[in-house]
Amino acid sequence: MERSTLTDQPRLVVISNRVAVPKARGAAGAQGGLAGALHAALSDRKGLWFGWSGQESESGRTGHIDTQTTDGVTTATIDLSQRDIDEYYNGYANSTLWPLFHYRLDLAQYERETGKGYERVNERFADQVAPLIEPDDAVWVHDYHLIPLGERLRSRGLKNRIGFFLHIPWPPTRLFVSLPYHERLVRTLLYYDVVGFQTQEWLESFLHYCEHELGAEVDGAKGTVSFEGRTTIARAYPIGIDWDHFSQLGSAGEARQAQQRLLSSSRRRTAMIGVDRLDYSKGIPERIDGIGRFFDKHPERVQDLVFIQIAPPSREDVDSYQAIRAELEQKCGRINGARSEVDMVPIRYVNRGYSHEELFGFFRAAKIGLVTPLRDGMNLVAKEYIAAQDPEDPGVLILSRFAGAAAQMPDAVLVNPHSPDDIAHAIQTALDMTLEERKARYQKLIATVRDDNVQDWTANFLRDLSEA
Ligand code: F6P
Repeated sequence: MERSTLTDQPRLVVISNRVAVPKARGAAGAQGGLAGALHAALSDRKGLWFGWSGQESESGRTGHIDTQTTDGVTTATIDLSQRDIDEYYNGYANSTLWPLFHYRLDLAQYERETGKGYERVNERFADQVAPLIEPDDAVWVHDYHLIPLGERLRSRGLKNRIGFFLHIPWPPTRLFVSLPYHERLVRTLLYYDVVGFQTQEWLESFLHYCEHELGAEVDGAKGTVSFEGRTTIARAYPIGIDWDHFSQLGSAGEARQAQQRLLSSSRRRTAMIGVDRLDYSKGIPERIDGIGRFFDKHPERVQDLVFIQIAPPSREDVDSYQAIRAELEQKCGRINGARSEVDMVPIRYVNRGYSHEELFGFFRAAKIGLVTPLRDGMNLVAKEYIAAQDPEDPGVLILSRFAGAAAQMPDAVLVNPHSPDDIAHAIQTALDMTLEERKARYQKLIATVRDDNVQDWTANFLRDLSEA
């Protein structure tokens, strides 16, 4: 059996749609939280990380696997054909499951062909990764792209412990049943030994479905679901940031330069910041409406503020993502047109990603962090914003009550992201907050961010997996 020299634990095999190949690290805003979190999970183990390269090529059919080992972590990636990308990634994963799981029935498309593509790519993942898995490896599958993979691996005779973690919300049963073949999808989840969710709320929705639609035996106290002779552990494991890494970034020259750049370009204006993938679930147009409402109510304060929205484009081949981009450009343009002066623009809207170091500097320079998704599994930007603050003069986090993070961060200023008035009021509250109150809130928030970190998340999940 291959064991990690550092931790004396079985080798870890992580399987996810995307793999952060080390040389591609850096564009944190574009990667989303999953990539960083998993890299941290693998870095102290002799891990293998398998997934899609993000590239299109016909070699997706030939079974070619690209491998590379850096710092003990081996990445193994495959290409996909254009048809696979269209049906599995742009189609079923991001035009069916993503909107449905984020409560957007209005955007969810149900096409049988894309459903078949999703199953076909899961089958291909199973074909290609199964020979790489040793009998004692712990296998950890991630996210909505790969729900059926555990069952596909079992059908190839794998007896390993296999866990699954869902990084996005699980919708209420009444929404979930709108998915054709919903039962088939959930049955495949029950082939895993452990199924993890970000929050108690998403877990409860899943257990509700298992009990009331599937007729499974659910033991809420133990966190288990028993069905057709198998028992699966189902629990909440809230993900955190890599505290050791992120909290050190302040000393990096790049972080200090970024902070300085933002401060000097804002002159004496108070900077507010939002950093999100350009995704309709993140509530960016609604946030801009809230800022517009604040300016309408307090025109005298426009001169004192600048809002920076960093939004790297994402899933650009999906129609709903093109629509959100156009909507956002229009909204920012309208406010800037109406409120700018020759030497002052109230909203800076930037379509690119930045390194973790630069983001740290921007977060530290911004006195207000706006994290207002309409629905989010967790949202690590909320935690990164807090981790970057100066303890002696911390900024204020305005956080959507519909982000998973809100359950752990009640000392943020919580808002309903659908309400422009609520956002405008929260901005006012943040601007007027005394240093004493900012520090008191920060102390409580930083304790959560520091203590519930990604290392604990990994340890908790893998402990349950090893005991399953
Ligand atoms: O958190 C959800 C998620 O899909 C992650 O799996 C992924 O890293 C991130 O969003 C970015 O999405 P994509 O891989 O589609 O660019």
